[in-house]
Amino acid sequence: MTGATTGIIVAAGSGERMGGVQKAFQPLLGRAMVAYSLRAMEASQDVDHIVLVVASDSLDKATSLVSSMGLCKVSAVCAGGATRRESVLAGLRAAPDDSHVALVHDGARPCATTELIARGVVAAREHGAAVPAVPVQDTIKERGQDGRVVATPDRSRLYAAQTPQAFRIELLKRAHAEAPPDLLLDDASLVEALGEPVHIFEGDPGNIKVTTPIDVAVAEAVLRHRGIAPPDGQEAGS
Ligand code: CTP
Ligand code: MG
Repeated sequence: MTGATTGIIVAAGSGERMGGVQKAFQPLLGRAMVAYSLRAMEASQDVDHIVLVVASDSLDKATSLVSSMGLCKVSAVCAGGATRRESVLAGLRAAPDDSHVALVHDGARPCATTELIARGVVAAREHGAAVPAVPVQDTIKERGQDGRVVATPDRSRLYAAQTPQAFRIELLKRAHAEAPPDLLLDDASLVEALGEPVHIFEGDPGNIKVTTPIDVAVAEAVLRHRGIAPPDGQEAGS
C-alpha cells in the first residue's frame, strides 16, 4: 500500500496582473482555464483525489463546472485565502485522510500534461519534496535600486520553477505549520526553510503560467500545438 495521491489545484487568486480577472474562469479556446488542469488530473493514472481551491465567491460556479465536466476524482471544492500560501493550506486541510502524496498545482498553468504529473509523483515518493523546473533561457540580471545591474548570475545554474510541486503530504503540512508566516514564495521554499532537501525534476517548457494578457494567446497556442481539445462541460464565464 503506497497511499493515495491528491492533486490540489489552487485557483483562488485575483489576477491583478491580468487586470483583475479571476483567471480560473478566463476563457481559453472557449473553456474555463481551470478546466484544463482539472481534466489533466482526472486523466492521470497517478492521481486518486482532486481538491479544487477557488475564491469564496466562486464556489458555486466552480462546483457547477466540476459537475458539468463529469469528474469522478474531485473530493472537495473549497475556498482559498488572501495569499497563495493560505489557499494551499485550505487545500491541504481538505485533502482526504488516505493522502500520502500532495501535488500542488496552479490553476493558472493550464498546459500541464499527465507525463509531468507522473514525473512529480515518482519524484515525491523517492525524495519527499520535488519541484519541476526548466533551465532559464534568458540571461538574468539583478537590478539595483539605482537601476544599475548589480549581478549577472551564472545562467547554467538557474532554473525556473513550475507546478505541480510534489510532496509527501506530511512533510508539506509540517512545512506550512513551521515555516515563517511571512514566507510567501512557492511551496518548495517552505520545505527548504525547514532545511529539508527539495529535488528538481524535469519540467515542461510548454507548462507556462498565465500571468498577463499576452499569456492567454501563448497558452492557447500551446494547447493547439499539443492537440489538446477544450475540455467538455461548462463554458468559460457561464
Ligand atoms: N492563488 C490562490 N490564492 C491566492 C493567490 C493565488 O489560489 N490568494 C493561485 C492563483 O489562482 C494561481 C496560482 O495561485 O492559480 C499562482 O498565482 P498567480 O499566477 O500569482 O495568480 P494571481 O494571484 O491570481 O495573479 P496576480 O498575482 O497577478 O494577482
Ligand atoms: Mg499572485
